[in-house]
Amino acid sequence: MAILVEEGTLTSQGTHTVFHLQTNHTSYVMAVPYGKYLAHVYWGKKIRTPRLDNALLMRWICFDVMEPLPAEDVFPFSLDYLRQEFSTEQNGDYRIPTVQVEYEDGSRCCSLIYDGYEIKNGKDCLEGLPSVYTQHEKEAQTLEIRLRDEWSGLMVCLSYVVMENWDVITRSVRIENPSEQAVRINRISSACVDFEDSDWDMISLPGAWGHERHIERQSLRRGCQLLSSVRGASSHQMNPFLALARRDVTEEHGEVYAMNLVYSGNFHAGVEVDQIGSSRMFMGLGDDDFSWLLEPRQSFTAPEVVLVYSDEGLGGMSRIYHRLYRKRVVRGKYRDQIRPILVNNWEATYFDFDEEKIVDIAREAASLGIELMVLDDGWFGKRNADTSSLGDWVANQEKLPNGLSGLAQRIRDCGVQFGLWVEPEMVSVDSDLYRAHPDWCIYVKGRERKECRNQLTLDLCREEVCDYLIQTIGGILDHADISYVKWDMNRHMSHIGSESLPKERQREVAHRYMLGLYRVMETITQSHPDVLFESCSGGGGRFDPGMLYYMPQTWTSDDTDPVERLYIQYGTSLAYPISTMGAHISAVPNHQSGRITPLKMRGDVAMSGNFGYELDLTQFTKEEKEEVRSQIADYKKLRSFVQSGDLYRTASPFEGNLVSWNVVSEDKKEVFGAFFRIQSEVNPGIHRMKFAGLEKEADYTDEETGQIYSGDELMKIGLVVDFHGDYQSRTWHLKRI
Ligand code: DGJ
Repeated sequence: MAILVEEGTLTSQGTHTVFHLQTNHTSYVMAVPYGKYLAHVYWGKKIRTPRLDNALLMRWICFDVMEPLPAEDVFPFSLDYLRQEFSTEQNGDYRIPTVQVEYEDGSRCCSLIYDGYEIKNGKDCLEGLPSVYTQHEKEAQTLEIRLRDEWSGLMVCLSYVVMENWDVITRSVRIENPSEQAVRINRISSACVDFEDSDWDMISLPGAWGHERHIERQSLRRGCQLLSSVRGASSHQMNPFLALARRDVTEEHGEVYAMNLVYSGNFHAGVEVDQIGSSRMFMGLGDDDFSWLLEPRQSFTAPEVVLVYSDEGLGGMSRIYHRLYRKRVVRGKYRDQIRPILVNNWEATYFDFDEEKIVDIAREAASLGIELMVLDDGWFGKRNADTSSLGDWVANQEKLPNGLSGLAQRIRDCGVQFGLWVEPEMVSVDSDLYRAHPDWCIYVKGRERKECRNQLTLDLCREEVCDYLIQTIGGILDHADISYVKWDMNRHMSHIGSESLPKERQREVAHRYMLGLYRVMETITQSHPDVLFESCSGGGGRFDPGMLYYMPQTWTSDDTDPVERLYIQYGTSLAYPISTMGAHISAVPNHQSGRITPLKMRGDVAMSGNFGYELDLTQFTKEEKEEVRSQIADYKKLRSFVQSGDLYRTASPFEGNLVSWNVVSEDKKEVFGAFFRIQSEVNPGIHRMKFAGLEKEADYTDEETGQIYSGDELMKIGLVVDFHGDYQSRTWHLKRI
């Protein structure tokens, strides 16, 4: 049983309940003392169910004469001292509330009292939202705990899903309004955990365009430390991921607690350290650009948070997320299939191409062993620059005289599959779509329609706009032989308003947009199960589990410089598996950084992701072509396990000049190792690649040299690496004997 419930009476003042959620290695314990408030007791390494009186031992000793006591007879302390599972405001808990509601009379007090529970086998998907899924009922158990505001009748249903074998607990929240008055929800976190102390480092993944998900680690301090996005996307600037790690946590040792939001829009997450040094960790929809008017007898479901605990350091945490995302977030045919090696023409041609040029690249691609040719931006309307045509999804006859299907056929005839770029969520002012439907975009009436990259965001709060996208993009996929789609999105929201909504619902736009987008993506991806979808948002501006639910891979960053990519891919791997990361070799000097790096290093970095090329293959010299051929042949030997294996990070770019990691296949029979030195150093001492995650008793053959090494030797002594010059790298393919 993954969920244990114990009920008992210790005093005459009511029944106490203890909930114990257990995965293979973790326990999560909650209690309801005196049948009133849902309190957090423990989250961490698996334990046996604690004694009832011990589980109920709250902070009896803490009090503050300035704070109200909820019920002095049974609760002789303020809620500010209670470790709560779901807190509200204006009831004596002065910390960040998990939910904030406003009633019709303008009041905001809400006192949520325990109202019962239900346990179900399996896990329900969240309606209209992406979520972790199960394949068999036995994989999960769901505990639904009801809390009720006595005054308004407002019902909060907390859903805890325990996925025993995956070592994961997910949390989500549904608010039901059974009353006759509308209630405004101004903020709602889907998960909140109160820890007794604040002796933690907070780890987050901030960034910028071309600089996504750089690891930041800092000690907690008093007050609130907030991570958020109000850009209408999960964003380059802050990923919806947050971890608390003990100060001594390394890659392989120590306790880490993490949250990751299965959502692609605005969010907030953070930690508040309170007056007595306790910390509250939370994640969900924030209050900056969110509010939801909940009509009588309606309900609202907030997105899911995936909670992971590991006592095997950051590496242990990442591997739990990776396994789950690979198999229980990513769906469809490509979940279990190797991903094709592709070439994308964006950095090869930008907007300046025609059918012959694309076919030339495809022909070259086929001769090198590449499997998929992706035609990027510029194929539709009269788009020869980023100034027009988004929305007019009809092939440009001047560039592609045979249309998309003619081009697709020619590309297939070269021996590679055909893939296509689209940016469905946007519209150019200079487009037939905008001229026909000027009110289909997000704008505030009477104000400037502010363009960004010369485009406006389509208003996906409107059903007819979503239907139009389903029809148009679906139609393209129905009529041409397209195996892959790169789904891009290149502006953040600003000047936000929807003509389709009344004024009291304008703060719902960003969330309604996401719901509309999820419906569009669900319909298109489900009706085209053979197409491989890759999401993109100016590179990795929407790299989150929400997008991965619809599209199994994401373009990690527009920055393809391999040195920069070491940081970006390393940071991304904290939560997201290799099989979700698009990683391509591009030309030198690199278009983003101007840096010149060897083809070998560019290849070795890209091989730790979904491998591809982003350059004009026809420009390669004979020698370069030979090197590319062998890169491709190597990757074909590696990808079946690199894309599905366990990642072990062994040296971090955030800590020094040397970077390394290795991937161990699920069956532990094969290993891919990669070691990089960024800058040249004279007399640096000995560099060694030390592997991790191998079987110490087993022996391994180096596929290149035929040398045999023992597992413990590879992990403890390592292999000496000799480098000369900047931007050096070395990879290994080992096979267990
Ligand atoms: C942004 C993407 O990240 C690029 O790869 C490219 O597709 C451009 N958009 C095209 O406009």
